[in-house]
Amino acid sequence: MEVKTSLLDNMIGVGDMVLLEPLNEDSFIMNLRNRFDHNEIYTYIGSVVISMNPYRSLPIYTPQKVEEYRNRNFYELSPHIYALADEAYRSLRDQDKDQCILITGESGAGKTEASKLVMSYVAAVCGKGQEVNKVKEQLLQSNPVLEAFGNAKTMRNDNSSRFGKYMDIEFDFKGDPLGGVISNYLLEKSRVCKQPRGERNFHIFYQLLSGASDDTLMKLKLDRDFSKYNYLSLDSANVNGLDDAASFRTVRNAMQIVGFMEAEVQSVLELVAAVLKLGNIEFKPESRVNGFDESRVKDKNDLKEMCELLGIEQSVLERAFSYRTVEAKMEKMSTTLNVAQAYYARDALAKNLYSRLFSWLVTRINESIKAQAKTRHKVMGVLDIYGFEIFEEGDNSFEQFIINYCNEKLQQIFIELTLREEQEEYIREDIEWTNIEYFNNAVICDLIENNQNGILAMLDEECLRPGTVTDDTFLDKLNTICAEHQHFESRLNKNSKFLTDHSLPHSCFRIQHYAGKVLYRVEGFVDKNNDLLYRDLSQAMYKATHSLMRQLFPEGNPAKVNLKRPPTAGFQFKASVGVLMKNLQTKNPNYIRCIKPNDKKVAHIFTDSLVCHQVRYLGLVENVRVRRAGYAFRQPYESCLERYKMLCKKTWPQWRGPARDGVEVLLTDCSVPTEEFAYGRSKIFIRNPRTLFTLEERRRACLEDLATLIQKIYRGWKSRTHFLLLKKSQVVVAAWYRRYAQQNKYQKIKSATLVMQSFIRGWKARNILRQLKYEKRCKEAVTTIAAYWHGTQARMELRRLKTEARNKRAVSVIWAYWQGTKVRREYRKFFRANAGKKIYDFTIQRIMQKYFLGLKTTTMSPMDNTWPAKPYGFLEGAHTQLRRIFHLWRCKKYRGQFTEEKKAVYEEKLEASEIFKDKKALYPSSVSQPFKGDYLEIQKNPKYQKLNSAMEEKVLLADLVNKINRANGKGSPRLFLLTKSNFVLADQKTGQVKASVPLPDLASVSVSTQSDGFFALKLKEGSASASKGDFLLSSEHLIEIITKLHRIGTTAADRDQINIDISDEFLVQFKQDKVCVKFIQGGPKNGNSAACKRKNNRLLEVSVPSP
Ligand SMILES: Nc1ncnc2c1ncn2[C@@H]1O[C@H](COP(=O)(O)OP(=O)(O)OP(=O)(O)O)[C@@H](O)[C@H]1O
Ligand SMILES: [Mg+2]
Repeated sequence: MEVKTSLLDNMIGVGDMVLLEPLNEDSFIMNLRNRFDHNEIYTYIGSVVISMNPYRSLPIYTPQKVEEYRNRNFYELSPHIYALADEAYRSLRDQDKDQCILITGESGAGKTEASKLVMSYVAAVCGKGQEVNKVKEQLLQSNPVLEAFGNAKTMRNDNSSRFGKYMDIEFDFKGDPLGGVISNYLLEKSRVCKQPRGERNFHIFYQLLSGASDDTLMKLKLDRDFSKYNYLSLDSANVNGLDDAASFRTVRNAMQIVGFMEAEVQSVLELVAAVLKLGNIEFKPESRVNGFDESRVKDKNDLKEMCELLGIEQSVLERAFSYRTVEAKMEKMSTTLNVAQAYYARDALAKNLYSRLFSWLVTRINESIKAQAKTRHKVMGVLDIYGFEIFEEGDNSFEQFIINYCNEKLQQIFIELTLREEQEEYIREDIEWTNIEYFNNAVICDLIENNQNGILAMLDEECLRPGTVTDDTFLDKLNTICAEHQHFESRLNKNSKFLTDHSLPHSCFRIQHYAGKVLYRVEGFVDKNNDLLYRDLSQAMYKATHSLMRQLFPEGNPAKVNLKRPPTAGFQFKASVGVLMKNLQTKNPNYIRCIKPNDKKVAHIFTDSLVCHQVRYLGLVENVRVRRAGYAFRQPYESCLERYKMLCKKTWPQWRGPARDGVEVLLTDCSVPTEEFAYGRSKIFIRNPRTLFTLEERRRACLEDLATLIQKIYRGWKSRTHFLLLKKSQVVVAAWYRRYAQQNKYQKIKSATLVMQSFIRGWKARNILRQLKYEKRCKEAVTTIAAYWHGTQARMELRRLKTEARNKRAVSVIWAYWQGTKVRREYRKFFRANAGKKIYDFTIQRIMQKYFLGLKTTTMSPMDNTWPAKPYGFLEGAHTQLRRIFHLWRCKKYRGQFTEEKKAVYEEKLEASEIFKDKKALYPSSVSQPFKGDYLEIQKNPKYQKLNSAMEEKVLLADLVNKINRANGKGSPRLFLLTKSNFVLADQKTGQVKASVPLPDLASVSVSTQSDGFFALKLKEGSASASKGDFLLSSEHLIEIITKLHRIGTTAADRDQINIDISDEFLVQFKQDKVCVKFIQGGPKNGNSAACKRKNNRLLEVSVPSP
């Protein structure tokens, strides 16, 4: 938020003299003094800035200050030169108004410093950029150069400007500097030859001698010693606080920045040296025959050196110092110069040379700083011109007259512009214009500059008049012509009132300037106005080979001889002041009035009389009166309302309507008399400062109340905020505390619960234990029993392991058991609750495991009948079931391995079993014998090849059998072959077929119940084969032969099944006879095989060994 401040805030005395009450010279000076004592060196008169020289550096020109004043309204901050510079710069940039800053004041009042402050402020706030910065730098650096050549130490100021300076700074439309033009006015050239006591020549002479290198000095033929030069006063050659050597370096550097070429600098220094040399040329009189003295140069060394320096022929210059040529029309006359005239000529040359050099420097600087662009420029002019000069005891001469004339003109323009501005503002604001009483100094200006009877015109007239002209004749003329003028005073005046005025000497006249009366001594007026330089000298200078020298004396060119007198100094000055005034009139003026607080050039001293004198001649009180003629104070409605709105309830804190209405309401509410103010279009005009101060006073009081209110609200807010913070903190603390308390409580409950839980668990466990003890003999008591059982088992196992000492496994078993026991013992107490059940389950599981592992020893053979004994009574049912299931399973497994062939073999075996099992004693021994079928290997054996080929079908069985002879019962070997459709008996040796019987012819087969191999093949009665009778055969493979025969019968569809008759007695048909074959159990004498014996015709007895 922008903080609105005002000039009226923290004011020491009054910041704007317009508000001074009562207004008189004393109060004016008191206010200045009051402010000066508080380091407030700036005070306003409206928009005019009064600047007091503080004679010490104050911390008010810092970059921060520049920023503070930048873009702020004039009356917003306390008075400052920056405020004026800012106002001027902004109205130039934003409103396109050319500006001029007029700085006046007496010598040492701070004009040059003020002009530099303005320039540096503008340089700081205007645009930036490489080109712009270069321009700025050149403009600023022109100051040290001009100060070196144009400033000198005087009694009143150690750095006094001895010329008037007006500088136009040119800006483009953006407000960036483009360049500048400097105009100089009336350099005090008399100083070159002679300086008043306690003063010095221009700085450059001292700077050159102190600061230049030995080499440079040698080139310039100079000596470092000041005392060697007549033109340099010795008594104050060194000034406290001035370092000439350092200044010389600064000046050289500045010349380089401004754009001087090295050769140009050298030329300038040569001319400076030439002036010094010139001062050293002395003359002596030489008597001539005609009785006149003629001057001669005393010591030609300096002259010679000077001529060498400038490239002038020595004789030419020497002659110019001795003779003077006067030309009139076509005639030329040469007169000699006496010593005094020679000195006059020398000094005139030195003065002219130096002042022309100074003007050349200004022109040269202008060339450098000239704006390049041709576009329209905005201009800000800075005028640093000498203020009124009034020397005591009528020591005022032509220079003071000229200076004071310039100041009269400035006052004139000031009055004109101030009044014009005031009037314009009234019209702009629609305020009735009241005529303002003020002193108009136009009359004094007229006294000086009037073309017919003005003092300057008369001086010129005197200078041009033929005949004897002296200062006295000039004064006479004044006395006659200006006698009636009310501002002209002279002793010789016809006006008798001054006849007795002893303060007015005869050789003087007095002018009542607007700033006071000034007494002028007429001596030297004519000479100074003439400003004569003998033509011989200018021609001698023109003849120099030094180009700058020639340039400075163009009138010395013999080709352009001008017989007309050059314009007088007064005339020239008047003309240039006229141009300046015209120039200033087109611009918006800004005034800085510099005041010097004391004569001692020291800080903190305020000499009332001195200040009073300046206040008077600067016409400052007059200035305030003009400014206050209508209304003392004016302010835009917005600022006025903003500043005083707290004085009225309707406007505080915010006025909603237009600002003007607000101010009206405000002033009515404050009961300000209506004649005290007037309403303009945008501003309120307050007639009397007292009204403003009353408002200010009331505002101050109101602000105190407001401050209390704000304090109250702030304190309330602060306490409330603090309280809320405490409250919030309390909630947080309480929350944390509650949490902590609850946590503690919870921990206690938890541990209590755990204790209780453990007690309850203990109690429960004990209950269970009791119950377990009670159910010791019951099944649930397995825990104990299992423990015992495991103990027993372990002991048994241990015993077994002891016996099998080398069995390593025993150790681990024991270890495992022991570990188990240990662990059980260890954990019994922890798992008391469900240990019983667990151990029971485990025991059962272990028992079952052991039981099942025990069963594993049983073989997979279906024949194996073995089965372990049941280990526990409770497994009885499962044990038998398991045996059955296992047997079924292994049979299935066994069957699963069978191939088709093997299956057929077993089917045969099965059939054999069906036929013979429990019927014939031979059968069990055949069970383990596999049914081979082809015992003779008839296919492979070559012996039976013939027989084999005789067989039409596949041979199912081939065996060696015994055919029982029916006669004696003895057996003879035969080959027995069986096919699907018949059986064949063949000779064992030859393989010749003895009998081939088709199987359908076979009726039955008879065998005994004994363990013999006899069988009878009985043929069907009536069949083709039956004629030979039945066959009684014996074979080792009886069971197989019979089974196969039976199978063929079973599978053949075309015939009946073969009957198998098993009995120990059966009938066999031998041819026609039927013989009974009887089987008896024989004694051991019969040997292992059965023996057959014919008992009779009808009986064959077979004795079979006992089993
Ligand atoms: N604002 C200031 N702050 C500090 N010192 C200042 C200020 N103004 C002036 N001075 C001092 O006063 C001296 C004289 O000031 P300055 O040269 O500006 O006077 P002037 O008015 O130009 O005099 P003259 O008419 O002789 O040239 C300066 O050298 C400086 O020491
Ligand atoms: Mg100055």
